[in-house]
Amino acid sequence: MKYVLSLLVFELFAITAVIASIYWIQKYCNGFKWEDKSHETFNYHPVFMILGFVFLMGHSVITFRILPLRHRAKKYIHAAINLLAFVFVVVGIMAVFKFHNDLNIPNMYSLHSWLGMTTVIIFSLQLLGGVSIFQDLFKGAKDEIRATYKPLHVAAGTAMTLFVVASVCTGLQEKMGFKDKSPTFKYSSMPPEGLLVNTLGLVVMLWGATVIWILVAVEKRTPVDHYEEIESEQAEEQVVN
Ligand code: HEM
Repeated sequence: MKYVLSLLVFELFAITAVIASIYWIQKYCNGFKWEDKSHETFNYHPVFMILGFVFLMGHSVITFRILPLRHRAKKYIHAAINLLAFVFVVVGIMAVFKFHNDLNIPNMYSLHSWLGMTTVIIFSLQLLGGVSIFQDLFKGAKDEIRATYKPLHVAAGTAMTLFVVASVCTGLQEKMGFKDKSPTFKYSSMPPEGLLVNTLGLVVMLWGATVIWILVAVEKRTPVDHYEEIESEQAEEQVVN
């Protein structure tokens, strides 16, 4: 019951964030266009970052708690979702850099860009560390190295949730600030677009709280018909991971 409930709450926030971001871009920001000097190229940025981090990375982070599968299977699912998330993150970052470079807008000046870039770098390091140390890319990574790295990987993964919330919320706020400079948009008069974007930020913050709750309060799920196998796997896991 605990697993189903926590997964439902997680899905509610993750799916709402994706739908709200796509709806926002389609309804209020002229949709998506990957073209030179086009303002709509930027629009891939918020949606792809939310798809990559909130939806995909979120699912990968909770894999070990929620799925009733054996540890090894979860390990591959965790890695595969993270690799897919990385593709979305790279395209999302390329979109904003292309938009800035095409229109001669300076890069990396804002607090959001600093928080965002730190989030992307830590995510990339997590991916590199996870694939190389846990997925046996470098055959025979020593047990002591795995044992030392594992708590760091788990702690950094949990902290990533916090970084993602901070990056998304500062990004949304910054975009609202830019829109506020146009004579047709007044944020302080609470237009529907402003309410939608505020709600999106709130949903992402609640998503973050749900992920942390799952990581802290939900035990790892084990398949009922695999107890013996699990016990021996866990013993093996304690030695190698
Ligand atoms: C975890 C999610 C996100 C990450 C990691 C992230 C990362 C970044 C990075 C690294 C930049 C700098 C690009 C450059 O300087 O050329 C940037 C720019 C920007 N991002 Fe995000 N972003 C995220 C989500 C969002 C969201 C949801 C929005 C909402 C619209 C947004 C809005 C912006 C804006 C307006 C800029 C251009 C201005 C600036 O450089 O600060 N970002 N983002």
